[in-house]
Amino acid sequence: MPDSVPTSTEELSFDAFDEIRNPPPATTEFDAVVERAMSRRRFLGGSIAFGASAFVTGTTALAPVETRAAAHAATSRLGFDAVAANSLDTVTVPDGFNWHIVTRWGDPMFSGVPEFDQATRGTGASQERAFGDNNDGMALFSHQGRTILVVNNEYANRNIMYGNRDSGLPENADDVRKGKAAHGVSIVEVSEQSGFWRVIRDSPYNRRITADTPVEITGPARGHDLMKTAFDPTGTRSLGTWNNCGNGRTPWGTYLTCEENFNGYFSSSDPDLQPAAELGRYGVGLKDWGYAWATTDERFDISKHPNEPNRAGYIVEIDPTNPTSTPKKRTALGRFKHENAEVVMAASGHVVVYLGDDERGEFLYRFVSAGTYALGGDNSDLLDSGRLYVAKFADDMRGAWVELTPAATGMASDAEIRIHTRQAASAVGATTMDRPEWVAANPHRVEAYCCLTNNKNRGRKPNAGGDATPVGGPNPRAANNYGQIVRWVPDNGDHTADGFAWDLFVTAGNPTVHHDAHAGSANVTVENTFNSPDGLGFDSKGLMWIQTDGNYSNAGDFAGQGNNQMLIADPVSGEIRRFLVGPKECEITGITFSTDRRTVFVGIQHPGEKGNSHFPDGGQSVPRSAVIAVRRDDGKPVG
Ligand code: FEO
Ligand code: CA
Ligand code: CA
Repeated sequence: MPDSVPTSTEELSFDAFDEIRNPPPATTEFDAVVERAMSRRRFLGGSIAFGASAFVTGTTALAPVETRAAAHAATSRLGFDAVAANSLDTVTVPDGFNWHIVTRWGDPMFSGVPEFDQATRGTGASQERAFGDNNDGMALFSHQGRTILVVNNEYANRNIMYGNRDSGLPENADDVRKGKAAHGVSIVEVSEQSGFWRVIRDSPYNRRITADTPVEITGPARGHDLMKTAFDPTGTRSLGTWNNCGNGRTPWGTYLTCEENFNGYFSSSDPDLQPAAELGRYGVGLKDWGYAWATTDERFDISKHPNEPNRAGYIVEIDPTNPTSTPKKRTALGRFKHENAEVVMAASGHVVVYLGDDERGEFLYRFVSAGTYALGGDNSDLLDSGRLYVAKFADDMRGAWVELTPAATGMASDAEIRIHTRQAASAVGATTMDRPEWVAANPHRVEAYCCLTNNKNRGRKPNAGGDATPVGGPNPRAANNYGQIVRWVPDNGDHTADGFAWDLFVTAGNPTVHHDAHAGSANVTVENTFNSPDGLGFDSKGLMWIQTDGNYSNAGDFAGQGNNQMLIADPVSGEIRRFLVGPKECEITGITFSTDRRTVFVGIQHPGEKGNSHFPDGGQSVPRSAVIAVRRDDGKPVG
């Protein structure tokens, strides 16, 4: 193994990796933060236990534990019996529902590719033509009578992918090739027969997009000096996409894949390099996350190619109906650790995209296209030109979208703002958030929701740019281990409006353990308790599906919560009910519905990430991330 590849980060999560990059300051501002928060409480008159969020209004305001039952509607729109929390190594769905595997990591997409090899876990060549690892966001498209499923492959669990190596890490060039090929996006044609969905091998639509696929750079940052490298002196073409987390879909039939923790793939062959502060803000440093890509691909060596990281961290648009199309990095939507991209059509025809930056103390963004959508027209470059905003929340339950312009940020150009977007948002004093994950917009009401998954540093440590993270607004709890979902209603029923009202739809917590703010809001009960909301999506009935990526110890603060899970919420009544429990050590992420709504496709990511699952194949098999299909036994629509 090259010296530059660390072994000490083996068990670290992405956010733990960032902690190494961004250690606590020698002098903490915690005391000052607490003082400000306490002053606000006194000013607003709220209780210390609930802080600013005591003023959250609406159907699901925080309430004492004894009134929780009242939060449930007398008649429920949730047509299933709740699933109990559990720690089983399988998927659990309600009575009257069933599930099956659609595809797993390593399943061949083409003839001639060997089936997944339990001993070697595949090769570079096999992985390049097989379903990628750690499936995340996904969307289903109907096209000329065919059904195309597009799925992100976010990352690889090194100890699983390289479980055939004593080190649990890539040990040669083909191992690295396999790892790069396991990332990106898998596009497969699927079909349903007798209630079972299967991948159609050799479909002309089947395609792998990996860390090496040619990609075009478009939008304001295209051709900027910060985007130019030795391999691409024009700053217009890069290779690949990786750490593809959540997704989006456009009204014109394309797929958006969202580059999240892109930083963990870069390293330096020069151990004395002092990375630029601009790279540090994004967590790019001397060591990678153990994937060793720089050992075979020099563009990941920041001592030789310091601009290469500037070309990652974007939204990438893919046309799933054209297998030879070139994916496009839409720089107009900014560069940060993109979670998903929720696309909404405003009444004016402008395309609005809500975007979260998933890191402690980072921000929530909105893009509004310059042009308008034309039914049947050419909408292919609508995401290349528009305004980018960041959210500011106030404790009076109001908020504003602040446009990131050169005048507002002090930056030289729109291009620089799109490349150093985090710095631009800091410059305008945006609200530091508890890790914005997925955003979802209600199809039946002009409102949107964002999962703020958790933030153990809330009130304790600034973000990587030094911005304070005081308790307040939609981030009401210090040392927030459970997370919350914020909801905003745009002024005048218009997603392009610059003002909005907000509240917390749910503050997750555990009423079996806590009797203070950490018990959660009134719509959290002993029966539905969960932590770390992450994935989010609406069904056709306007019910909201919540997926979790949190602590699955089922002990201590998390006692009674079991494995990661999926719940369904009624935005009108506030009721939340557990629909699904995943296998051991997985997260649930990614959701899309069949055109006839009789199937919901759900992602099971990284089962057994700590070595304690054999999902889905059982026995002593290697655990494999998978897309599952969930249906009703009676064949009626599920959402
Ligand atoms: Fe890939 Fe923030 O989850
Ligand atoms: Ca996520
Ligand atoms: Ca997460």
